[in-house]
Amino acid sequence: MPGTNESRVAASRLEALPRLALGHFPTPLIRMRQLERALSAGRELWVKQDDYSGPGFGGNKVRKLEYELAAAVEAGATEVLTVGGIRSNHCRITAALAARLGLGCGLVLNGSVPVQGVGEPASHAMDRWFGAEVRYVEHGSERASAMARWAGELQSAGGRPYMIPLGASTPLGACGFVRAVLELRGQCDSMGWRPGTIVHATSSAGTQAGMLAGLWLAGWEDVEVTGVSADDSAVVIGAEVRRLVRGVEGLLGVPEGMVTAPVRVEDGYIGDGYGVPSEAGREAARFLARSEGVVIDPVYTAKAMAGLLANVERWGTGPLVFWHTGGQLANFVLGPV
Ligand SMILES: Cc1ncc(COP(=O)(O)O)c(C=O)c1O
Repeated sequence: MPGTNESRVAASRLEALPRLALGHFPTPLIRMRQLERALSAGRELWVKQDDYSGPGFGGNKVRKLEYELAAAVEAGATEVLTVGGIRSNHCRITAALAARLGLGCGLVLNGSVPVQGVGEPASHAMDRWFGAEVRYVEHGSERASAMARWAGELQSAGGRPYMIPLGASTPLGACGFVRAVLELRGQCDSMGWRPGTIVHATSSAGTQAGMLAGLWLAGWEDVEVTGVSADDSAVVIGAEVRRLVRGVEGLLGVPEGMVTAPVRVEDGYIGDGYGVPSEAGREAARFLARSEGVVIDPVYTAKAMAGLLANVERWGTGPLVFWHTGGQLANFVLGPV
């Protein structure tokens, strides 16, 4: 709540956190009038385009990495290590930003290793273009230990590695989305409206946790947030969101439990699993491209949009903001170069 002692402390702690201005902010906030018309929606629909946040083809991870990479630089890191799936947006963006900062970058990726060259998933090829060194493991459960071993090797060789957990979903990374909500409030205030509902894709939970803490700080606690899962159940992601919210409260010096907003995770649009495109997602992506010229991705945002389209009159009230978290490169493969 603005104006309270707690919020003043939180705002000044947020301001004092080291952050590298690496992204292009504010990202565009655009009314989707054609989509409103096509759906005969009885409410305003807006898109907050974090796909335009900048380096590494943009996306929600830029906001989190502005904080995590500042911590890495403060710690005197020589390289950053992180983990993700083969086409991880987080890993690609980390690699791009590490290049910009002159840091080495090591990525532990899990999944079946694509053949390099023409036809290779573009995101995977870009990891190499951005100069990252890549190691592979078979399962997601092996990533964190592989990263820790790699850090040990680098330390023994005299390096100073800094490890960033999956999705940069730490309390510190989530602060990127506390700031993001304040950015949205600034844009809305200047246009004279406020949202009733935010819908976005969720997975490692940092985006949603940061948003909930940011809504508290913005005095917008009544704005309803629905995270549409790309992989795990609502129970699993919801617990992680709550854990990260407590962590953000701690970082910002706010009494534990101050952020009381309900955690809404919708897990009905995952389809056949993480990374497997769903028919509803495909249709949603085509529909959005045709009606608004906005490109979404099959792994995260198309599933969130499928949920939005099916529930446009049901999820929350008032103007609805679809928070585009990026990932659009997943639609493309490498051509001849
Ligand atoms: C494009 C995209 N959207 C949404 C998400 C989910 O964000 P979070 O991991 O913070 O829940 C991710 C990353 O996992 C992503 O790459």
